[in-house]
Amino acid sequence: MTDPLSPKDRIIFALDLPTLDEAVRYVDLLSGHVGVFKVGLELFCACGPAVVHAVNERTKGAGVFLDLKFHDIPATVRGAIRSASTLKARFITVHCDEGRGLLKAAVEGGGSGTKVLGVTVLTSLSGEDFIDAGIDASRFPEPADLVLHRARLARLAGCAGVVCSGLEVGMVRKEFGPAFLTVTPGIRGAGEAKGDQKRTVTPYEAVYNGADYIVVGRPIRNAPDPVKAADSIAGEIERALEDRGERDITGCGKT
Ligand code: C5P
Repeated sequence: MTDPLSPKDRIIFALDLPTLDEAVRYVDLLSGHVGVFKVGLELFCACGPAVVHAVNERTKGAGVFLDLKFHDIPATVRGAIRSASTLKARFITVHCDEGRGLLKAAVEGGGSGTKVLGVTVLTSLSGEDFIDAGIDASRFPEPADLVLHRARLARLAGCAGVVCSGLEVGMVRKEFGPAFLTVTPGIRGAGEAKGDQKRTVTPYEAVYNGADYIVVGRPIRNAPDPVKAADSIAGEIERALEDRGERDITGCGKT
């Protein structure tokens, strides 16, 4: 099957910035080098819907990933996603940890053109954090067990896909196939500082393992030359897609 997404289309750049001016500066700089701009809590709380309109207007065809990670009672999330869908974001996120009722409400609130993705287990968490989070380690000994459980709920609820780390994406891809989207944050180059992220992989590993998209923030934003960093990541993605294609002859991957 021919893949319609180019390597750069698969990069979601996280606009984790405090002002509209700074966001617009990065959008202008990186348009044409990444495929999607992610508006998260920091920027949305500072600028509101205006930033989504600004990104949509300034980029020709690059989508917006509205990463507000909704988490509330079903009726509230249904309404929030209904409102957010009018902003014409390509993707919107909801936490999976409240179960199927909330996920179904989120999907019901999503308008046509906005895909609802379930956030499985944050890439900033490792198994050691499960006790604090009240997660039963005898049932979910590894983050991968919980990711798969939550991905199943998201799938049953009708989500278009999930957000998970590159350590679990192969497993998710294997169980649900290529029509269920996978988005992988926690991307770091070999030896690069992890910051608050714990379950990290390189761009190559994420895509080779099956990710449709990768989310990259600091490794591009803090690079001396963000355009060069984005282009280099696209190069890694291209190599991973080629290698993944060869591996798929044996039946384990996406395309
Ligand atoms: O700077 P860095 O590349 O670590 O940024 C990762 C981005 O991905 C952040 O904007 C964060 O909110 C987002 N994200 C994540 N883990 C998830 C879902 C989203 O790190 N599970």
